[in-house]
Amino acid sequence: MLGVPRTQLLAAPELTTTQAEELAALVARRKAGEPLQYIIGRAPFRYLELAVTPDVLIPRPETETLVQLVIDWWEETKGTRDGDGDAQVLDVGTGSGAIAIALASEVGVRLVATDISAPALALAEENAAAAGVAQLVDFVLCDVCEGIVGPFDVLVSNPPYVTSAQMSELPAEIAEWEPHQALDGGTDGLDVLRKIVPAAKLLLRPGGLLALELEEDNVRQAAALLDDAWTAVNVHQDLTGRERFLTATRAR
Ligand SMILES: C[S@@+](CC[C@H](N)C(=O)[O-])C[C@H]1O[C@@H](n2cnc3c(N)ncnc32)[C@H](O)[C@@H]1O
Repeated sequence: MLGVPRTQLLAAPELTTTQAEELAALVARRKAGEPLQYIIGRAPFRYLELAVTPDVLIPRPETETLVQLVIDWWEETKGTRDGDGDAQVLDVGTGSGAIAIALASEVGVRLVATDISAPALALAEENAAAAGVAQLVDFVLCDVCEGIVGPFDVLVSNPPYVTSAQMSELPAEIAEWEPHQALDGGTDGLDVLRKIVPAAKLLLRPGGLLALELEEDNVRQAAALLDDAWTAVNVHQDLTGRERFLTATRAR
C-alpha cells in the first residue's frame, strides 16, 4: 500500500514523510479495530486472493473446508451426474464470491451465485473477472434463490447463521465492521436456512448435493429440518473438530 517492497523495508527501513504518514494512518485504522483484510482490501481464500470491502463478509478459513466437501463429492460422483454442460452449481449468499469463484477456478463448473446485497454482488463479479472465471458464473440479485430456475447438481451455501443471542456477543471487530446481513440468522440462526431447504428440494436434481456451513450450536437442529426427500444426511467437522457442515443428498 505504501509502494515499498517488503525487502526494502527490511534492508533500508527509512520511509519518506508521506509514506510514514500513510503508514501511521493505516496503523490507526487497525488500532481502531478495523479488520486487516478491509484495510489492505484483500483476503486469501484457497488458491485465490479476493478483493474485500465492508460490503462483504471476510471469507473464513472454515469455508475452505465447505468448498473441499463439494469438490470431493464432485470427484466421487463423476460419470453419474446427468447435468454436465448446464449451470451445475448454485451458491446462495455468495458475498465476495469466495465459494463460487473457488469452485469455478478449481473444478471448472458453471455456477449461479445469488446474494441479496447489490454491492456484494458487484464485488463478487469483479473478483470473478480477476480470477478469469467471469464466463463461468452468473451473479443474480435475489432473496435466497427466488426466480432461479434449476435443476442443479449442487446447492452450496454459507448462509447467515449467527443466532440473535450470539449477535449481541460478537467481538467488536466483527460486529462493528462486517455486514450484519451476512451474519444475522435470526433467533436460532436458521432463518435463511429455512428458505434454502425447500428451495433446494425443488432445484436439485435427484442425487444432487446440498452442502451447508453452519454453527456447531445449530447444525444438528438444521439437519432435523431435512425430511424424507433427503438421504445421506451427514454432519462434518472443521479442522478444529467442531461440527460445522451439513451435507445431504436429494433422494432419487
Ligand atoms: C456468511 S455470508 C457468506 C459469504 C460468502 N459466501 C462466504 O462464504 O464468505 C452470507 C451471505 O448471504 C447473503 N444473504 C443474507 N441474506 C440473504 C438472502 N435472504 N438471500 C440471499 N443472500 C443473502 C449476505 O449478503 C452474505 O453475502
